[in-house]
Order: sequence, then structure tokens, then C-alpha cells
Amino acid sequence: MAVQISPSILSADFARLADEAAAVSNADWLHVDVMDNHFVPNLTIGLPVVEALRKAADTPLDCHLMIEDPDRWAPAYAEAGAGSVTVHVEAAKAPVRTLRQIRSAGARAGLALNPATAVESYADLLGEVDMLLLMTVEPGFGGQRFLDVVLPKVRRTRELITAHGGQVWLQVDGGVSAETIERCAEAGADVFVAGSAVYGADDPARAVDALRALAEGAAG
Ligand code: DX5
Ligand code: ZN
Repeated sequence: MAVQISPSILSADFARLADEAAAVSNADWLHVDVMDNHFVPNLTIGLPVVEALRKAADTPLDCHLMIEDPDRWAPAYAEAGAGSVTVHVEAAKAPVRTLRQIRSAGARAGLALNPATAVESYADLLGEVDMLLLMTVEPGFGGQRFLDVVLPKVRRTRELITAHGGQVWLQVDGGVSAETIERCAEAGADVFVAGSAVYGADDPARAVDALRALAEGAAG
């Protein structure tokens, strides 16, 4: 279980996205938060920006779709060259079909759960996913406070993944920082999204290294 860091460009300077991507070239992924002002009360970026960023950045894109009707839109993000495309269970009407379409288009398929959504209902879908994303804030905005209440679910999810064979990555997203990342790693997360903790730092690349070291230490 290798630690991976996925800085969220939601906290980057949108006018300088290529530079902001290059500033974290030591990261494993670039986390792209797609919001439609319907599934969440915020509006960010969509396909044209993902297409442009893919050409401008060397780091693979980890697209997190916080949108209604992800069944319609998710395959296009995979076709646009995203390395990973994650849809929310609360929004997907045909998650199995959509996850399969993401994989057929050549991307890793992710399934995201809001803080109050139980993971047990999705245990049978583990064979269909490459990553589970557990939100550790209510989705919609960067810079929110980490929700400790999700940690027991992180532990239970790690147990489900281990029982299934251990191939599925477990991502946490929201409020992940030097203060909270060790708790997440101890609970079993292995992919860490961090927006404000990376782009709010004076040196984003150093922040990535520091977060990675903390997570690796805590994961043992
Ligand atoms: C929130 C987004 C997160 C956000 C994380 O809805 O999904 O990816 O950018 O930002 P921080 O790390 O600042 O909580
Ligand atoms: Zn996100």
C-alpha cells in the first residue's frame, strides 16, 4: 500500500494553472475538482480546462466529479485523457455502467461517498472500482475543517478492501493537512488529496514531501 499525494488545484491560482501544476511535479496526481453548482453549491471547471491541463501538465489528472448526471459526463473525462475519474454514489443513477465506461475509456474508475453515506451498501461493487474516495468534509469548497467522524468509516473501508484482495485504492479528500493526515493513514487511507495544505504553503512541493513523509510514517 504505497502512499500517494494528489494536490487539489481548487486552491491553486486558476489564472496560472500550468505553472501551479508544475509547482507540484513531485506529486503522484493532480486532483481536479469539477463542480456544477447543482450537486454542490459551487461552480468550478469542466472538460475544456481538463483537456487543456492534460496537454500542459505532466502529472496525471485525478478528476473528482461533483456533478449531477455523472453517468452522462464521466466517460468524456476519461476520453479527454484523465488518468482517474471519480463519480459520486449520491449522484450516479447507473454506477456500474458508468464505472465500466470509465475503465473502457482507459482511465481508473473511482467511486466517491459523502461523509454521511455508508460504505457497506457498495461492498459488492469493489470489483468494479479502482479507488474509493471518502469525503472528509461536505463536498463543495476547499479549506474546510476535517471531519473526524469519517475515520471509523475509513477503517471499515480498509477492512472491506483487504477482504476483497487489497487492490482498490482508498482516497480521503477534505481538510487533509499536516495536522490530520496521520490519522487518515493510520485508519487505512493510501491516497491523500490536499488543497489548501499544499497550495496555501509557501513552497507547495515541500508541502507535498512533508505530507508524504507524515503519511508514510503513520502507515508504518
Ligand atoms: C472539496 C473538494 C476537495 C478540496 C479539498 O469538495 O473535493 O478536493 O479541494 O480542499 P482542502 O484540502 O483545502 O480541504
Ligand atoms: Zn475533491
